[in-house]
Amino acid sequence: DFLRATSRRFVSTINTISVSAMDEDNVGTVKQQLAKLCEASLRATVPDESSLEPLVAPCTGKFGDYQCNNAMSLWAKIKGKKTEFKGPPSVGQAIMRNLPQSEMIESCSVAGPGFVNIILSDKWIAKSIQKMLEKGIGIWAPKLPITRAVVDFSSPNIAKEMHVGHLRSTIIGDTLARMFEYSNVEVLRRNHVGDWGTQFGMLIEFLFETFPNWEDAGEQAIGDLQAFYKASKLKFDVDSDFKEKAQQAVVRLQGGDPKYRKAWEQICEISRREFNQVYQRLGVHLEEKGESFYNPYIPGVLEALSNQGLIEESEGARVIFIEGKNIPLIVVKSDGGFNYASTDLTALWYRLNEEKAEWIVYVTDVGQSMHFEMVFSAAKRAGWLPADDKLYPRTSHVGFGLVLGDDGKRFRTRASDVVRLVDLLDEAKSRCKAALVERGKAAEWTAEELEQTAEAIGYGAVKYADLKNNRLTNYTFSFDQMLNDKGNTAVYLLYAHARICSIIRKSGKEIEELKKTGTIVLGHADERALGLHLLQFADIVEEACTNLLPNVLCEYLYNLSEYFTRFYSNCQVVGSAEETSRLLLCEATAVVMRKCFYLLGIEPVYKI
Ligand code: ARG
Repeated sequence: DFLRATSRRFVSTINTISVSAMDEDNVGTVKQQLAKLCEASLRATVPDESSLEPLVAPCTGKFGDYQCNNAMSLWAKIKGKKTEFKGPPSVGQAIMRNLPQSEMIESCSVAGPGFVNIILSDKWIAKSIQKMLEKGIGIWAPKLPITRAVVDFSSPNIAKEMHVGHLRSTIIGDTLARMFEYSNVEVLRRNHVGDWGTQFGMLIEFLFETFPNWEDAGEQAIGDLQAFYKASKLKFDVDSDFKEKAQQAVVRLQGGDPKYRKAWEQICEISRREFNQVYQRLGVHLEEKGESFYNPYIPGVLEALSNQGLIEESEGARVIFIEGKNIPLIVVKSDGGFNYASTDLTALWYRLNEEKAEWIVYVTDVGQSMHFEMVFSAAKRAGWLPADDKLYPRTSHVGFGLVLGDDGKRFRTRASDVVRLVDLLDEAKSRCKAALVERGKAAEWTAEELEQTAEAIGYGAVKYADLKNNRLTNYTFSFDQMLNDKGNTAVYLLYAHARICSIIRKSGKEIEELKKTGTIVLGHADERALGLHLLQFADIVEEACTNLLPNVLCEYLYNLSEYFTRFYSNCQVVGSAEETSRLLLCEATAVVMRKCFYLLGIEPVYKI
């Protein structure tokens, strides 16, 4: 049973598009639609070749909107054989000739060593946007080669501080989960909380000693869990009697003693309440399956690995050796206890075999890369995962850099070492509220509107400031920067969206009516550029999912606002002959912006 993973067929990313959760209107991304045409052409060009993966990419040059780049690699394959082709350019010509007739394509040309440049038809771009307005943006959803993923994120530790690293993990993980979900992948959002381990003996013993009536007063007794943790750790370090009792408490807890179990649950519950305050403000949902959940499965998994001959003795510990690594992965400590790695190996087994996840991603700081590399390598040795990282089932560590303060050091919200993330989020909100009041909104809006807008902008700003950077780089936490209404910030983008909504409102036209009766025509170059960019939304989501990089979507969103600005400054909307078409373009821009916000976990605002 434990080895079921081994017999699983490993599938490749290529052409294994899942169709289960898809509705018939879902056409996929532009790239995926073009890939279908290119694949047909490749098959017609070289009928004898069995594996032909279309290579389609958006163009950066001015000769096309997209490019098919197969000619070079195809030439390399067929060059020895007797064919009509004289080199990559002639292969490119043939690929171009063999492209099936399609309303998507306006014209094609072959450039350089055989690139096939494709210019999309204006009519088709307009039609696709209109269809999206009619049927919803789900019709563009990327088709990914998996149906179920695990995103392991947030994952703070009980009784320890939930620090900005956990905030980053929460924000990045939530976005990745949302992007997968948009792509019709079922996501198991896993909160792998650190709720097991030797520190609980110390905490429980301290609770018993300091608060004999803990069962009734536990909540008050340990309301400030971090202070409680510190006090018990202090005692643990100086009092050898206490230390011994703490060690016995661990044994009792792990042996299932009801009293110890109850105390443990109480401690976890208090932490959980604190974590939930952060999740509630951020609008993030997770399912907790902490370390303790996997604990009962550890012996069985280790036994199976042992039967495969993978576990060896080393300096009193039981370990798995990994090729290319000097130190082995310790799975049983010399005192017989399990550790972080035994739990993660077991959780991975569980996710593959019980939960049938095809892609499992772990969002933590880069400091843990080595740990995950070792765990993944062990899983490959066991045959749970294919050796090739691009094949499924697959695991990825989504590492991220540090959050820095304006002193260039690791960010702290206060001088003391107690970091309360809720305070940080509250501050972002209250700063936004103050800015709105200063602009006279208190008189203009209801109290509730003011509150909601301040929240949307404040929390949105914190999230966007984190997500817009490549996650691997460190970034500086600055309220002034993230709350600036100019530049690449959530504030600027939320305002841009609200402005588009107000253009539509002020036109006095009923947009739902226009959607039914009007037609989009892309006459002006800036209209076409905006239209093409709108259409590329799903391509970007696919790229962000595939590379696990949310910043790609932020960049797209920022560029979208720029394309819109250019369009709006050069094309009169209200009162022009093209008013209907242009209002529909405004609406389409607002719809795509809102989807971007949604995927980034940001609430849109509709008026400013
Ligand atoms: N609790 C860990 C920490 O705070 C993160 C856990 C990440 N997930 C995992 N499966 N190891 O560092």
